[in-house]
Amino acid sequence: MRIGILGSGNMADALGTQWARAGHDVMVSGRDPGRAAALADRMGARTGTWREAADFGDVVLLAIRDHAVFDVLREAGPLDGRVLIDVTNSLAPGFRLKEPAGTSFAERVAAAVPRARVVKAFNLCHEDVWRMTPPAFDGAPLAVPLAGDDADALAMVETLVRDMGCEPVSAGPLDRAGLLEAAAALVIGLWLGGADARAILPPVEYASGAPARR
Ligand SMILES: NC(=O)c1ccc[n+]([C@@H]2O[C@H](COP(=O)([O-])OP(=O)(O)OC[C@H]3O[C@@H](n4cnc5c(N)ncnc54)[C@H](OP(=O)(O)O)[C@@H]3O)[C@@H](O)[C@H]2O)c1
Repeated sequence: MRIGILGSGNMADALGTQWARAGHDVMVSGRDPGRAAALADRMGARTGTWREAADFGDVVLLAIRDHAVFDVLREAGPLDGRVLIDVTNSLAPGFRLKEPAGTSFAERVAAAVPRARVVKAFNLCHEDVWRMTPPAFDGAPLAVPLAGDDADALAMVETLVRDMGCEPVSAGPLDRAGLLEAAAALVIGLWLGGADARAILPPVEYASGAPARR
């Protein structure tokens, strides 16, 4: 696949490196052309302007700090038909969501570029997890929830998830992206508070009650 990356920071580096290593053709863009070029060099990718990266990618990774996302999208152009992966966590102090209840950052992104096919993904884990080869724990690949409306777009992102050794899992349509954003706010708050967020859920056998009582 051809993958355009908007951003040359940590998430651009972590995910872009995985996909370049898997053989995808990657173009990196950023506000600092020197930083974008250095990152592109490291991963064996090309570099371009916001607009060039957006036009280049069948898939475009949006890896920008929340406050700058809509300015960058304006410069990137209409992203016609592109699969746009939104990884943004837009959090206010106290691990609260900046978006009002009932909506999501991803839906605001989709409204800004209505001809793109937005998929929310990769927002639940730290960049260092996305750098792992592969991201797996206790012998099991990390599950990556995806929320989006377009079946073909979801299938392309599923491929990219598998290419890095993870397992995609459907989180439903884009109107459920807010749940992924809220989940990130919850688990980041727990982790940074010193709790093990992974420990708050029982094994799947207990999802509908205790197995021994069924
Ligand atoms: N890091 C994580 O572990 C993690 C995990 C899940 C989700 N996320 C989400 O991923 C996104 C990227 O995070 P990151 O850790 O990669 O951040 P980062 O390392 O700070 O990189 C962010 C990118 O945004 C650019 N940027 C910042 N302000 C800008 C502006 N005013 N105009 C244009 N570009 C601007 C930066 O440019 P410069 O390089 O020039 O500063 C950089 O290319 C965020 O939305 C974050 O919530 C991060």
